[in-house]
Amino acid sequence: MSHINLLGIAGSLRAGSFSSAILETLKDELSVGAELSLHSLGDVPLYNQDLDTDEPLPAVRALRDAISQADGLVIVTPEFNYGMPGVLKNALDWASRPYGIAPLMGKPVVTISASPAFTGGVRAQAQLNETLLATQSQLSGGAQVVIGEVHNKIADGRLIDRPSLDFALGAISGLIDRIEAQDQRKAA
Ligand SMILES: Cc1cc2nc3c(=O)[nH]c(=O)nc-3n(C[C@H](O)[C@H](O)[C@H](O)COP(=O)(O)O)c2cc1C
Repeated sequence: MSHINLLGIAGSLRAGSFSSAILETLKDELSVGAELSLHSLGDVPLYNQDLDTDEPLPAVRALRDAISQADGLVIVTPEFNYGMPGVLKNALDWASRPYGIAPLMGKPVVTISASPAFTGGVRAQAQLNETLLATQSQLSGGAQVVIGEVHNKIADGRLIDRPSLDFALGAISGLIDRIEAQDQRKAA
């Protein structure tokens, strides 16, 4: 089996973020042959097309490089006012450029939402998925991973609800299968 490098992005900057806790747990639980590195959006500036030049700001370059170098992305978003948080949309806007050669183009992605509400951020995830469609990334279809009442499912910075964790791991396993199938096609 080839080694798969996944990049985890949380749509929250909060120190005690449940979204980040989910990513940390997935990182711990990934099977041999795959690893997940987390990339914080804390330093990413607000998108400004005037600053979107051939010499991007360091935090933009770091974000774009991290996405480019990853075999696939795992994005975990909370819901803010029925949508994805601005920090996440902002980062995706940066990663959607340069037009035609953007790091998100063709990138396999799995999305997960989580919120204290029983709706689990499903509206944020729908919005996130629509944005990813615009970026021409390759979104995993099928069952959506939506973690409701997340505040009752996190302890000591980890997702402790086994069914939610297994469901999320299943989605990542599907992502890894897709990446491996693509690699095999490229090698053929
Ligand atoms: C400004 C704001 C708006 C929010 N709006 C919603 C919402 O529309 N739906 C929802 O389910 N949760 C909403 N929440 C709750 C967040 O989803 C919740 O605080 C979540 O845990 C934040 O993510 P984090 O734990 O990764 O930081 C909102 C929270 C904030 C701060």
